[in-house]
Amino acid sequence: MTPDLMDAGAQRIARHAGMPMPVLTESGGRSAGYGRHLSHEVDTTHGRILYLEDVSVSFDGFKAINGLSLDIAPGELRCIIGPNGAGKTTMMDIITGKTRPDSGTVFFGSTIDLLRHKESEIAQLGIGRKFQKPTVFEHLTVFENLELALKTDKGVKASMLFKLDSTQSDRLAEVLHTIHLSESVSRLAGNLSHGQKQWLEIGMLLMQDPRLLLLDEPVAGMTDEETARTAELFLSLKGKHSLMVVEHDMSFIRTISEIVTVLCDGAVLAQGTLDEVQADERVIEVYLGR
Ligand SMILES: Nc1ncnc2c1ncn2[C@@H]1O[C@H](COP(=O)(O)OP(=O)(O)O)[C@@H](O)[C@H]1O
Ligand SMILES: [Mg+2]
Repeated sequence: MTPDLMDAGAQRIARHAGMPMPVLTESGGRSAGYGRHLSHEVDTTHGRILYLEDVSVSFDGFKAINGLSLDIAPGELRCIIGPNGAGKTTMMDIITGKTRPDSGTVFFGSTIDLLRHKESEIAQLGIGRKFQKPTVFEHLTVFENLELALKTDKGVKASMLFKLDSTQSDRLAEVLHTIHLSESVSRLAGNLSHGQKQWLEIGMLLMQDPRLLLLDEPVAGMTDEETARTAELFLSLKGKHSLMVVEHDMSFIRTISEIVTVLCDGAVLAQGTLDEVQADERVIEVYLGR
């Protein structure tokens, strides 16, 4: 796409973004997705979107994940806390196919065995992941970054010819609104604040309309105001998407959490409301009391 065409597109979107956005329908109802291409329906009739049972993985004989069992309900916002080295990031590596466990079961809904899929397929099945550091394209605009999120799996030629259709344009405007970047659509991503870059990356994930979002320490390095806005953002995503959020910031966790899972030594140490786990002697000993 030529730069001036891009600008015209950006202006169209910016105009669009000022208008009230269509309300999202339940995301599972739109299985066609925007950038996803594997058409598996995620079966959540058993009340779980993610299910891990007795998962273990060792690195050089060290059990980083050790008999981990955990499940998440559709639309739930689950918070995960625990000391450094507990296995939180490794758990996300396993769910997303980056690391293969030595044993155990990992299901997306009740029918999709994630251990039978490659990392790229898992993303297309509707699991989006946000790493700790923002990985936006700094030399591209906010608009271009979001647009790019739709064509990551296309070949070079298809990408050159790629043009947003009206559904995708609407989606882009809706995502811009959700991540509070409608006013910044033409800015270079490199000029955004740290918090805005994090939101842009979340927006790039949202362009794919994931059923499940995994977010690893999303508010690390954010200002208090950015953290508060991120809490609002996550609360607005809950229900439409399922979220698994790893964080150390307890006031952030308090704002967004329902059920909190405490990981330690590669397994679940405690689970409950934040008040419940904060009152748990074992949790205080290994984590909160440090
Ligand atoms: N690829 C790897 N090779 C070797 N050790 C690893 C690897 N990934 C993680 N670990 C180890 O596994 C443990 C859990 O790490 P991690 O999942 O990053 O914990 P957390 O995210 O809870 O801080 C740590 O002791 C870490 O050093
Ligand atoms: Mg980690």
